[in-house]
Amino acid sequence: MEFRNKIVVVTGGSSGIGQAICDEFSGFGAEVFVLDVKPLSSSGPKYCHVDIRDEQQIRNALGEFEAIDVLVNCAGVYIQKYVEETTKEELDFIVDTNLKGTYLVIKNALPLVRKAQGSIINISSGLGIAPELSSPAYCATKAGIIMLTKVLAQQLASEGIRVNVVLPGPIDTPLLRNSLTSDDEMKAYADLNPMKRIGKPIDVANVVTFLASAKAEFVTGGIYSVDGGESTSSLYSK
Ligand SMILES: NC(=O)c1ccc[n+]([C@@H]2O[C@H](COP(=O)([O-])OP(=O)(O)OC[C@H]3O[C@@H](n4cnc5c(N)ncnc54)[C@H](O)[C@@H]3O)[C@@H](O)[C@H]2O)c1
Repeated sequence: MEFRNKIVVVTGGSSGIGQAICDEFSGFGAEVFVLDVKPLSSSGPKYCHVDIRDEQQIRNALGEFEAIDVLVNCAGVYIQKYVEETTKEELDFIVDTNLKGTYLVIKNALPLVRKAQGSIINISSGLGIAPELSSPAYCATKAGIIMLTKVLAQQLASEGIRVNVVLPGPIDTPLLRNSLTSDDEMKAYADLNPMKRIGKPIDVANVVTFLASAKAEFVTGGIYSVDGGESTSSLYSK
């Protein structure tokens, strides 16, 4: 795959999956820009401090670009709270980040993506299609990202702009380690997976770069699980 001279913007690129996506695009020759609240820990991509909950910060950062070839919406937060435990503030935090943040970045980046006839890849979650009882707000935001992807894919297809969504299963990142805090918990979770392992950030990055590449030129509105088969589980396999 070849991304030389391509401008790639990754929200949430300072950590975990987003960081692996940046490394992968950089390896293929792209010029990578990270929009994140957390500074980069490595050199390579260029960093813009952006809180995607703030439309003015998004506008200021995107004002520096002439065109965007690939936009990856990866920034996200996770809260494990049952519906009756979730405060209004927690609900605002997760909806403003995951759903409204993704929406506002796309809204403001679209003129730049149009200029490059580029492509958009959103990072949802397996929990956007399969319910986790202890995280209804997260599940709802991730389901919203899937529908947003479908709407935009259909709207923009005739302009040659492709929009796809990736649904990671459990991936070993700081976000996952916040809820599975011990190695025993990680192992127990891995044992539930059909492939008997937790995913690595590169597993997701490989699919994202494929979707952004010319090899996927007839692929839009696609929903791609990267989860070792977790989404195939049913009542009967439990
Ligand atoms: N790790 C998993 O198991 C898993 C599974 C399914 C989906 N996902 C999704 O993958 C994406 C990346 O998750 P990760 O596991 O790499 O988590 P992570 O916590 O390692 O990285 C998330 C990044 O998003 C950034 N971010 C958070 N809020 C932001 C905001 N308001 N503005 C800008 N940046 C912000 C963080 O600073 C961080 O750099 C998320 O959308 C997450 O929901 C992760």
